[in-house]
Amino acid sequence: MHQATLTIDPAFKVAPVRRRTFGTFVEHLGRCVYTGIYEPGHPTADEDGFRRDVLDLTRELGVSTVRYPGGNFVSGYRWEDGVGPKDQRPRRLDLAWHSTETNEVGVDEFVRWCRKAGVEPMMALNLGTRGIEAALDLLEYCNHPSGTALSDLRAANGAKEPHGITMWCLGNEMDGPWQTGHKTAREYGRLAAETARAMRMVQRDLELVACGSSSSSMPTFGAWEAEVLEETYDLVDYISCHAYYEEKDGDLGSFLACSTNMEYFIRSVVATADHVGARLKSRKKIDISFDEWNVWYLSRFQNAGTPADWPVAPPLLEDHYHLADAVAFGGLLITLLRNSDRVTAASLAQLVNVIAPIMTESGGRAWKQTTFHPFAQASRLAAGDVLRVEPVSPLYETAEFGEVPLLHAVATHSDAGTTVFAVNRSTDGPLSLEIDARALGGARIVEATTLTDSDVYARNTADDPDRVAPRPNADVEHDPMRVLLPPVSWNVIRLG
Ligand code: AHR
Repeated sequence: MHQATLTIDPAFKVAPVRRRTFGTFVEHLGRCVYTGIYEPGHPTADEDGFRRDVLDLTRELGVSTVRYPGGNFVSGYRWEDGVGPKDQRPRRLDLAWHSTETNEVGVDEFVRWCRKAGVEPMMALNLGTRGIEAALDLLEYCNHPSGTALSDLRAANGAKEPHGITMWCLGNEMDGPWQTGHKTAREYGRLAAETARAMRMVQRDLELVACGSSSSSMPTFGAWEAEVLEETYDLVDYISCHAYYEEKDGDLGSFLACSTNMEYFIRSVVATADHVGARLKSRKKIDISFDEWNVWYLSRFQNAGTPADWPVAPPLLEDHYHLADAVAFGGLLITLLRNSDRVTAASLAQLVNVIAPIMTESGGRAWKQTTFHPFAQASRLAAGDVLRVEPVSPLYETAEFGEVPLLHAVATHSDAGTTVFAVNRSTDGPLSLEIDARALGGARIVEATTLTDSDVYARNTADDPDRVAPRPNADVEHDPMRVLLPPVSWNVIRLG
């Protein structure tokens, strides 16, 4: 049995819990949009063709913002194709995913879906094949009240009120050679700066995200952020980070510790941004929008090759997550929360079917993947301020990251109570976690739940949707407060 402790003191504040930490992402990719959020013939479809079962699960997941429409897709996208009468919308080749885009869903449908789901839309712009003019047009179409060609077109298309979109991504992964219209840092930085400058002439209070690196393993990582921010520092609010993790070569120990890489990524980008700020003698701080993160078995996708034809909404990137994936995922979520002073927005990539917490059958059922649960619990229970918890934990050796603590944890605290989110990365035994909460004066454990399974590779399916779900943890002692965390587990402990 392993032993660990953590200390909770409301004075150890990191930052407020940011609701935007619980953002997700809907891309025109595979079955995320078509047969994901939208399927007019489905038994649960509403009057707009949106699946009510997916809307319900999106609400239950506790999603705050949704990034749209890509991803790689956006870098070849013409937003005008997706507005106006549906029967007149063109079908186009989608170069990013070698698919045919029917354009049945576009910005107006997406915003309508966001209102039903109770989420904030976050719009990505095409800075791959397009540029300043298309960005300005889309902004005018979405946000200008009325009396201009494009705002009146929106009204004529059925959206009289402006969409009021605040957050805009200036392109997507422009550092990646796979991106349509890929650019060097200097080329992209200049285009992002001029696009941002022009957009702020239309509306000053936008929140703009410059593209950072698509992974910390990119050869240009670090230099890319520095050059892009040299061009854009005064014009943008965020720099983006994207990161995906998978278990490689059966190395579960390293995989469960993948948040170590995310931590390194965040610290490096914060240091780089602050270095640029110092050189510019600026008092402004650039935040991080971690607007793509998840477990993704990317190597399987890369080995699958490109389809020969151009299918409509083919099943792509449909990873079926198991318990270990959910525990690694929980560790990533803990890391995002622990860095809430600088990571003030994030988007889980993606929402439905495509590397997603929600899965659907076309014409059939929808269910929760294992990763649904850490996200939903953290979104529901993280409140008030994020606290540092000063864990003291045994270490274990990993091939990828060297020595890593078995316990990974964070807490949040508000007048309503304190919640600890903790992962036991051990594959060989439970971890007895002692919680020192003397600073809270008489706090008691009011609830402890655990996500675990005797089989670390257990999955949820449409037939067995609750095989892996949080269950009450009865291994609790009150004086001193102790909870037994099973091996490979995600845990939520509420103190009241
Ligand atoms: O989320 C899947 C893809 O991953 C996105 O389209 C792209 O931005 C990233 O490479």
